[in-house]
Amino acid sequence: MLKTLRVISQRIALYSFNEYNNAMGPKKKSEIICRCNNVSKETIEKAIKDGAHTLNEIFDATSAGVGPCGGTCRRKLGPLLDYYLLNGTFPEKINEDLTGKPPPPKKPTSS
Ligand code: FES
Repeated sequence: MLKTLRVISQRIALYSFNEYNNAMGPKKKSEIICRCNNVSKETIEKAIKDGAHTLNEIFDATSAGVGPCGGTCRRKLGPLLDYYLLNGTFPEKINEDLTGKPPPPKKPTSS
């Protein structure tokens, strides 16, 4: 009897879980850019929109680029930031910078 009740309650729980997932629709996953610190593209884009307009500001805002690998994801962060600063939007696909060159220095803004 107890075993039967346990099986029934498990089935009800599973049914409820499936109904909930169906009602919520498929989850949209954001691409993980920084694997060391598990930082998604969505998080980085939000930081950039909120004013992180240099790599250091992105590092501070998200912890992306400062993981134990030494910053492998920076080759994606740079092009993502450059694209945003140039176009005001984010690219669907990030073209990684594989040149190894540091980004050019920022031009001083007149104040
Ligand atoms: S992947 Fe971003 S710091 Fe390692």
